[in-house]
Amino acid sequence: MAAAGGAAEGRPLPGPPGGRPRPVCSRPYFVVLMVFAHLYVLNVLGLLLFVHLSAGDADPDPDLPPAAPSPGAVTCDPRLSPQVGHEQRLELVPGRVHVMRTLSLKPLLFEIPDFLTEEECKLIIHLAQLKGLQKSQILPTEDYEEAMEMIEISQMDIFNLLDHNQDGQLQLKEVLTHTRLGSGRWMTPESVREMYTAVKADPDGNGVLSLEEFKQLNIRDFHKYMGSRTVKMSELVRNSQHTWLYQGEGAHHVMRAIRQRVMRLTRLPPEIVEHSEPLQVVRYDQGGHYHAHMDSGPVFPETACSHTKLVANESAPFETSCRYVTVLFYLNNVTGGGETVFPIADNRTYEEMSLIQNDVDLRDTRKNCDKGNLRVKPRQGTAVFWYNYLSDGEGWVGELDEYSLHGGCLVTQGTKWVANNWINVDPNRWRQLQFQQEVARYVGEDVDVGAGEGAAAQSQRAADTPDSDKHAEL
Ligand SMILES: *[C@@H]1O[C@H](CO)[C@@H](O)[C@H](O)[C@H]1NC(C)=O
Ligand SMILES: *[C@@H]1O[C@H](CO)[C@@H](O)[C@H](O)[C@H]1NC(C)=O
Ligand SMILES: *[C@@H]1O[C@H](CO)[C@@H](O)[C@H](O)[C@H]1NC(C)=O
Repeated sequence: MAAAGGAAEGRPLPGPPGGRPRPVCSRPYFVVLMVFAHLYVLNVLGLLLFVHLSAGDADPDPDLPPAAPSPGAVTCDPRLSPQVGHEQRLELVPGRVHVMRTLSLKPLLFEIPDFLTEEECKLIIHLAQLKGLQKSQILPTEDYEEAMEMIEISQMDIFNLLDHNQDGQLQLKEVLTHTRLGSGRWMTPESVREMYTAVKADPDGNGVLSLEEFKQLNIRDFHKYMGSRTVKMSELVRNSQHTWLYQGEGAHHVMRAIRQRVMRLTRLPPEIVEHSEPLQVVRYDQGGHYHAHMDSGPVFPETACSHTKLVANESAPFETSCRYVTVLFYLNNVTGGGETVFPIADNRTYEEMSLIQNDVDLRDTRKNCDKGNLRVKPRQGTAVFWYNYLSDGEGWVGELDEYSLHGGCLVTQGTKWVANNWINVDPNRWRQLQFQQEVARYVGEDVDVGAGEGAAAQSQRAADTPDSDKHAEL
C-alpha cells in the first residue's frame, strides 16, 4: 500500500492544537451512554460483563490505545492550522478553482462554495429518490422494555452514574445530558418534569431528585411510561429521512467523480477514502431537525470500529463508526431555517455540563440554534468538512474532538436536502492497516488498490453502520 499518494505538502489535517483540555468523557458517562445506546443491538451480554467488571471504577480513564508502531504506510502529518477566515485556493477539478475558507479551529472546519455543481446536486437528489428514503429514526417499542429488564444494573448504580457532580441529587441537567435515557426521544426540561409527574418521582416538584426520592422510584414505571407514550416525529432526536448511495467501482460516474474530489479535498490516502462509507443522502421536510450530536464516538480500549471489527477478530463490547472526517454537502437552497449549528465551535473552554444552563439546552436545534457559536447557512453546492478526531501528534487519529458537536436546525420552510461523506479511519493504526490488507487480499494480488473498492464496498456493507442501515447498491 502506497503512502499518501501524490498528495505532497500542505495537507489539511489537524495539527495537535496546543493546550487543548482533555475530553471530559469519564468512564461512568461512557457506560451510561453505551448502556442505552446499545439496547437496540442487544449487545447486552458484553455490556453487563463490562458494567460488572468496571463497577466501582469511577476514575476518568481517557487513555487511548497507544498507536501501533508505524509500518510506514499511511501518513497523516499534522500541519499548522490557518486562521479563521483564511482562504485557500484549491484545484479539485481540472480547470476549475475552488476556494476553501476556514470557519473554525475547534473543530477544524472548512467551507468550500460550489464544490458540487447544480446538476450534480440535482442528480444526487434524483438518485436518492429513485432508491427510496427511509425514516432516519424509529422508536423502539416492546424491545425497549424487554431489553431494559434484561439489564441488571442496580438502581444505586444508575443514580451514581447519572449524578455527575456527586452531590447526592439528580439535577435536571444531569438527567438531560443522557438523552439516550429517552430511548430516542429528545428530552427537554418540560418532558422530564412531565415524566416525573407521571411516575410520581418528584413529590416536592422541585425538579431535583434526591437519593431518597430516587430510591422510592420503581425504575420499571419509568420504562413503562417511556414505552407507552406515543411520540411525535418532532420529539425525536432526529427527524429526517435518508438513504445510501454506492460510490465504488461501477457506480454512476458522478458518484465516482465526487469520491475522487473528496479524496483531493481531504488529501487522505485513496485506499482510506475508497473503503469508507457510501454517500448518505438526507431529506428534512418542513419541521425536520437533528439535535446536536457527534458523528463518531469516543475511543476506549474496549471500543471497536464498525468498519474494522470483522478483520480485527476482537469481540469488543462497544462499537463506534470511527468517522475521522465528515464532508457535508448542501444539495439545495433552503427557504427557511435548516442551518448547520456548531454550538461550541471555537469556544474558549468546553464543559459538557455547561451545555444546559437555566433550562436552555444548547444542543436543542429546534429551540436554541440562535445561541450556538457558529451556524452555516445551507447553500446549494457548498461543502463543509471537519475533523471529528484530533491528531495523536504522531500522524494518526487521536482522541475525539468534542468541539465537533453539531446539529441540523429546524427547517421552518421548504425542504432541505444534504449528503454526507464520512471517512472512516480506525484510531488503532494496526487495525486500520490489517483491514486494508484484508480488503486488498480479498480482491486478489494482481488488482491494484484503486480497483479494490468493489470488495471494500461489500465489506462495508457486511460491517454495516451502527444504525444497521442496509447499503444496497443502486
Ligand atoms: C482471526 O481468527 C482466525 C481464526 O481463529 C485466524 O485464522 C486469523 O488469523 C485471525 N486474524 C487476525 C487478524 O488475528
Ligand atoms: C441558491 O442561492 C444562491 C445565493 O444564495 C444563488 O446564487 C443560487 O442561484 C441559488 N440556486 C438556486 C438553484 O436557486
Ligand atoms: C464557553 O466558554 C465560556 C468561557 O470560557 C465558558 O464560560 C462556557 O461555559 C463555555 N461553554 C461550554 C458549553 O462549555
